Amino acid sequence: MFSIAIDGPAGAGKSTVAKRLAADCQMIYVDTGAMYRTIGYYILQQGLNPKNPEDVIPQLPNIHIGISYSQEGGQRISLNGKDVSQEIRLPEMSMASSNVSAIPQVRSFLLDLQRNMAKEYDVIMDGRDIGTVVLPNADLKIFLTASPEERSRRRFLEYQAKGLPTSYEDTLADVQKRDYQDSHREVAPLKQAQDAVLLDTTGLNFEQTVEQIKLIIKERFCHVL
Ligand code: DC
Repeated sequence: MFSIAIDGPAGAGKSTVAKRLAADCQMIYVDTGAMYRTIGYYILQQGLNPKNPEDVIPQLPNIHIGISYSQEGGQRISLNGKDVSQEIRLPEMSMASSNVSAIPQVRSFLLDLQRNMAKEYDVIMDGRDIGTVVLPNADLKIFLTASPEERSRRRFLEYQAKGLPTSYEDTLADVQKRDYQDSHREVAPLKQAQDAVLLDTTGLNFEQTVEQIKLIIKERFCHVL
């Protein structure tokens, strides 16, 4: 099986770019952030504290995550049989997912699911620790980043397009807090794998970013592009 790992901080454009690349290269896009979001969503739904391991760990056996793919190629995610793909995108789920993701038992709970997908399919998997922990032998690793202001601007525009009530300032504060939290946790922190290609998309639009990555892929493997 062939795998591409795309890691980077919140709002770097990983999912948009990975989705397009997966469609163009006929690979499966695996959004691992959605898995952490689903756990964060469940914990909030139960009225529990996503930061507290004593609240979160006993709940893990009650959480069954299902992944499927829509005809357009987008990932759908279900929690105990219910599609929660939209709910997990609400702004409050971002911090809840970052909080649960710092708990080592949560990370090992998801690790098998993530690795099994890469055993079964050619995948483009995005997250924070894909190149470093989940798929250390990925065929290609990309670390996608952009300035915090640019990433917050993009996230804010996404929220606005969905009609979600939030401000640019709140989005920036959330992005900065998550950057810090995701890169300073003890287990599998966000960091660039030694063998990853660094791509800063601050001055690039979506099409330019996709083109840059396609160039890297083309140089290495994918002769059909
Ligand atoms: O990519 P995202 O914003 O949907 O991810 C939500 C949170 O999940 C993120 O703040 C940190 C966590 N996460 C992680 O720890 N490891 C991953 N591989 C993916 C996401």
